[in-house]
Amino acid sequence: MTSWLRTHGSVPLYLLLVVVCTEASHAGDSVCRSSSVTSCTECLRGGTQCAWCFMENFQDGLWPGPRCDLPANLLRRGCAPEFMEQAEVKVEVNTNISSVQVSPRDIVITLRPGAEASFIVAVKQLERYPVDLYYLVDVSASMQENLDHLKTVGVALSLRMMEHSSGIWMGFGSFVDKPVSPYINVHPSKINNPCSDYEIRCRPAHGFHHVLSMTGNMSEFTRVIKRQRISGNMDTPEGGLDAMLQAAVCEGVVGWRPEAKRLLLLMTDQPSHLALDSRLAGIVTPHDGLCHLENNVYTGSTGMDYPSVGQLSNKLLENHIYSIFAVEKQQYQWYEELVRLIPGAYLGKLGLFQAPNIIELVVDAYKRLLSEVAVAVSVEDRAASRYWVTVSPLCPDGSTAKGQSCSGVQPDQMVYFNITVGLHSCPDDGEDEDVKVMVRPVGYNESTVVRIRSKCRCGCGPTRRCHDDNQSTCTGTRDQEQKPNHGLLNDSNRETNWKCRAEGSDVDCSGRGECVCGRCVCEQSRLGTVYGKYCERDSFSCPYEGGVLCAGRGVCVSGDCVCEDGWTGESCGCPTSKTTCHSANGLLCSGRGRCTCGKCVCDDLRYSGDACERCPACQSTCQSYWKCVGCHLSHGLTQNMVGHCNNSCTPLVGYTDDVSGQAGEMWIQCMYISNDSCRYRFQIISHAGQTQLQISTRPECTSSGRLIGTFLTVCALTVLCGLVVVAMLRLLLQRNLWSPGGATEVVVYHCTGKDLSYIPTTTEKTVTYRRDQLPDHPVEMQIQVTKMSLGDPWQF
Ligand SMILES: *[C@@H]1O[C@H](CO)[C@@H](O)[C@H](O)[C@H]1NC(C)=O
Ligand SMILES: *[C@@H]1O[C@H](CO)[C@@H](O)[C@H](O)[C@H]1NC(C)=O
Ligand SMILES: *[C@@H]1O[C@H](CO)[C@@H](O)[C@H](O)[C@H]1NC(C)=O
Ligand SMILES: *[C@@H]1O[C@H](CO)[C@@H](O)[C@H](O)[C@H]1NC(C)=O
Ligand SMILES: *[C@@H]1O[C@H](CO)[C@@H](O)[C@H](O)[C@H]1NC(C)=O
Ligand SMILES: *[C@@H]1O[C@H](CO)[C@@H](O)[C@H](O)[C@H]1NC(C)=O
Ligand SMILES: *[C@@H]1O[C@H](CO)[C@@H](O)[C@H](O)[C@H]1NC(C)=O
Ligand SMILES: *[C@@H]1O[C@H](CO)[C@@H](O)[C@H](O)[C@H]1NC(C)=O
Repeated sequence: MTSWLRTHGSVPLYLLLVVVCTEASHAGDSVCRSSSVTSCTECLRGGTQCAWCFMENFQDGLWPGPRCDLPANLLRRGCAPEFMEQAEVKVEVNTNISSVQVSPRDIVITLRPGAEASFIVAVKQLERYPVDLYYLVDVSASMQENLDHLKTVGVALSLRMMEHSSGIWMGFGSFVDKPVSPYINVHPSKINNPCSDYEIRCRPAHGFHHVLSMTGNMSEFTRVIKRQRISGNMDTPEGGLDAMLQAAVCEGVVGWRPEAKRLLLLMTDQPSHLALDSRLAGIVTPHDGLCHLENNVYTGSTGMDYPSVGQLSNKLLENHIYSIFAVEKQQYQWYEELVRLIPGAYLGKLGLFQAPNIIELVVDAYKRLLSEVAVAVSVEDRAASRYWVTVSPLCPDGSTAKGQSCSGVQPDQMVYFNITVGLHSCPDDGEDEDVKVMVRPVGYNESTVVRIRSKCRCGCGPTRRCHDDNQSTCTGTRDQEQKPNHGLLNDSNRETNWKCRAEGSDVDCSGRGECVCGRCVCEQSRLGTVYGKYCERDSFSCPYEGGVLCAGRGVCVSGDCVCEDGWTGESCGCPTSKTTCHSANGLLCSGRGRCTCGKCVCDDLRYSGDACERCPACQSTCQSYWKCVGCHLSHGLTQNMVGHCNNSCTPLVGYTDDVSGQAGEMWIQCMYISNDSCRYRFQIISHAGQTQLQISTRPECTSSGRLIGTFLTVCALTVLCGLVVVAMLRLLLQRNLWSPGGATEVVVYHCTGKDLSYIPTTTEKTVTYRRDQLPDHPVEMQIQVTKMSLGDPWQF
């Protein structure tokens, strides 16, 4: 996980980490979809979970609300991922800048309001550092003894520090207080020698004198200390903070080395003046935090207030300076509180009259300060309130210490800081901005620059059109369109309005919406959703299939289903493919019908079956066998079948006593009527591809009376037929020619043109009525009807 942190930039590499942080929010769905969200910017303000779809025709007519949604929902609703403006968070780590102690040095973070990003800064302590130590000594009268001790410190401390550092350089500066009343006695005799009362010659009071720049020559240091004389002032507190700030910021004059660990040691026996104290002297100008040294003398002392503790802390941090407070026992408590407010500060008691004490104090302080690794994160002032920052260290001993520091860090060890930066809100003007956040490990000469790009606006792809709900989208430029007579349509408006009409339509938005800026905003309907470029689509006005609009296989456009490929029909219930209609022989519906909605509709209603292959009622079926049956019958039953009858007929025929169907067979019952008015039942049996005739061995020969009765029934409705019947009847009655078995008359029953050989095998049929009732499933009714009624000519 931290491998990238170890790249020290020797290989130029640009790492891109993408971290998407979402605040746990389960109300996201509703936040994103709120109808008050009318623009991309607002949408993304709704939270990091919201995304905006700026695809041109996305859910036309429904805009703008539904453009803002959870990314997953947008995808499902057809928004392509490249058309989504999303609250992504990016962390880009630039490893170009090489660094030994602090890495990475440069990070670019892209944030949206409400989002946060984390990154890791690693801080490594080196084995040995060069050390710069600057003595800042309060030279008020009471400090005489301490000053004397310093004279002996130089060489001894230098030797002592060899153990812990790669060499120490020292510098020296002195301070008393602001040289103005009431801090000093301004009596002319006291200004030049504040100690005149004690008959001692001492220096005039001063805010800060820089005396010796950093040097490694300890004899030079001792020589300079020996020359120091004390000064005097009136009030108890001294101007220590004023002097510290100058010592910290006057880098060049003081001679701080860039590679050295910098220690600023403040020696005093009194508390220090704080900001606003100088109002007593009538100084109200706050400190500007800059260096004001002229000829090593601080010139801003009488013009500016004391610096605040915060200001001083920042300057110490910026210049990576550790501060050591060496104070008299009496002031220990006062400084204890001060030290808590200054990062990288150490407080030690200054023992009276003991030089070894100072050496120990410096060595202790140095060891302590280096073993404590902390970072300070600072956001640019102007933006500080809009960001939040949390720091959690991961210490070498494995602990995740609370607070921002690890203690007990040894040389050569690495400390990691997991830093999270979040953006509360955008600037009031809503503009994107770049904000610099500095991550400064306390006391290190290296730091990490984090540049945060807050994205408060939507980019919306290369065309930069977000399709926000805004009048300004009418013409593209905002200024042009800010007109007060918004409701009035003039020519330019009409121009845009025709964009709201479908080709050939004379109403805007199909009469179901309003044309706004050349775009349709569709009306809300209680029945469902109206949408589409011209509001021509909806979710309710089309036929349902299986309870689903357009069978779920199409969209509803102007009341008609527009089906997906492969489907057709009023409600998209029919496949366009005709494969289901092909019969076994490869013909469409056996050549006897049309394929409609994936099913055969047979031209001849007597045909049935999936491919119109069945025809139990075909007269031709019975009729075509008449000749064969007649031939057989004319040669007598059960007799020699070979010879007289056709070859194609002979093998087929068999005789049976019982002509009723058997399971597993397709059979058609037919009737043959012989010359002598006897009826012979026969059946055509299809079995395993073979057709066979079975002729009943029991003819039914009727009497003439019954025949007449039947005739009457059959032909009653036909005048012509009736006449024939009457004529025949008379003939029969007069001549009484009827003799069973020897019929000579030809009787052909073709009076109605219908084939009487057909005897229906069923007497009922089922008719199913379907009524599409929305939005429920269609209702089916089954009615049993008697197929043939009395008097029907088909009835035998
Ligand atoms: C890092 O260095 C590479 C090559 O020197 C350069 O192309 C790239 O722009 C640099 N990246 C940054 C952020 O400076
Ligand atoms: C150290 O300082 C002393 C006294 O100022 C000087 O005489 C000596 O030359 C200096 N040594 C070096 C190495 O500069
Ligand atoms: C910081 O200090 C290290 C160690 O002393 C040194 O190598 C490096 O050059 C310094 N960096 C800068 C920017 O001065
Ligand atoms: C850093 O902190 C963030 C927020 O507390 C957390 O989500 C993330 O997992 C942490 N990363 C590591 C590497 O600990
Ligand atoms: C539309 O844009 C104008 C001008 O930028 C702005 O003042 C207005 O608030 C916007 N309206 C909506 C609904 O976003
Ligand atoms: C349309 O209205 C705008 C704004 O009121 C006006 O500037 C423009 O001249 C009008 N166009 C016509 C053709 O009347
Ligand atoms: C029926 O009559 C036709 C001609 O009238 C005759 O050829 C046929 O043999 C007769 N059939 C029977 C079974 O008598
Ligand atoms: C005999 O068969 C031929 C064709 O195979 C047919 O045209 C003819 O009508 C048949 N005759 C009889 C009596 O079935």
